[in-house]
Amino acid sequence: MSNNLLKGKKGIIFGALNEQSIAWKVAEKAHEQGAEFVLTNAPIAMRMGEIQKLAESCNAEIIPADATSTEDLEALIQGAMDKLGVKLDFILHSIGMSPNVRKGKAYDDTNYDWFHKTLDVSALSLHKTLQTAKKMDAINEWGSVIALTYIAAQRIFPDYNDMADAKSLLESITRSFGYHYGEAKKVRVNTISQSPTPTTAGSGVGGFDAFINYAEDMSPLGNANAEDCANYCIAMFSDLTRYVTMQNLFHDGGFSMTGVSKKVMDRFL
Ligand SMILES: NC(=O)c1ccc[n+]([C@@H]2O[C@H](COP(=O)([O-])OP(=O)(O)OC[C@H]3O[C@@H](n4cnc5c(N)ncnc54)[C@H](O)[C@@H]3O)[C@@H](O)[C@H]2O)c1
Repeated sequence: MSNNLLKGKKGIIFGALNEQSIAWKVAEKAHEQGAEFVLTNAPIAMRMGEIQKLAESCNAEIIPADATSTEDLEALIQGAMDKLGVKLDFILHSIGMSPNVRKGKAYDDTNYDWFHKTLDVSALSLHKTLQTAKKMDAINEWGSVIALTYIAAQRIFPDYNDMADAKSLLESITRSFGYHYGEAKKVRVNTISQSPTPTTAGSGVGGFDAFINYAEDMSPLGNANAEDCANYCIAMFSDLTRYVTMQNLFHDGGFSMTGVSKKVMDRFL
């Protein structure tokens, strides 16, 4: 169903790897709501992924970029403005990767080179994207930038490992840059804190299957899925949310505010 909520809006969507990706669903919904955008992902993901299929269905161009490289980001943002013909209205940062998680290295036995990589890919990439866009004056007033995060930024989830620290930093960058970009150019920056979702990045976290079931039973509404997360992103890109900025917005079926649920309590009777 389209209400043309994003009619005339132009943007960049990072992180659509395959049909499970949250960014994939955001691209489909953004297209449905009348937006035009460029899709981007790391060059290596481009080879493995199915992004071409998505690009065709959304009538979108693809520009590869490693989100840790400011040169790549400059070329991406310039390329997107050239292809779309105007400045941007929205950016989705849907990027996460931890070599420590991938390689099963414990939090208290971390490999610091990998830890740096986690922070660079999963958090600093947002700062780099915002700083590059701001220097290039690439985003229109009231433009909206969304990054995806997880509640392990606030509470301990042991298997989330160094990604928890990366998400804390991501949320902090959102507040700090949201202030500076808001004051200078009325650009808004927010994170959406999503329920556990079966994607390539999500399923890579240890114990994911047990954990997603636990979160389902702890959330009064159940876990929010990728498609509903995409709907929330569209609302945040639209003009209906113009004064929302510097926020961490939970999209988790109520998980973050639940101390314990009846379903979980019943297991301990
Ligand atoms: N799946 C979940 O349970 C869950 C929950 C909350 C938040 N999130 C967050 O949602 C976002 C999207 O993840 P997803 O679950 O859709 O998984 P996904 O694996 O489909 O997406 C992660 C993306 O990050 C990209 N990426 C990795 N390194 C990159 C780099 N150097 N440059 C550019 N892109 C790079 C990958 O290619 C991939 O497309 C991530 O930030 C993730 O942490 C996911």
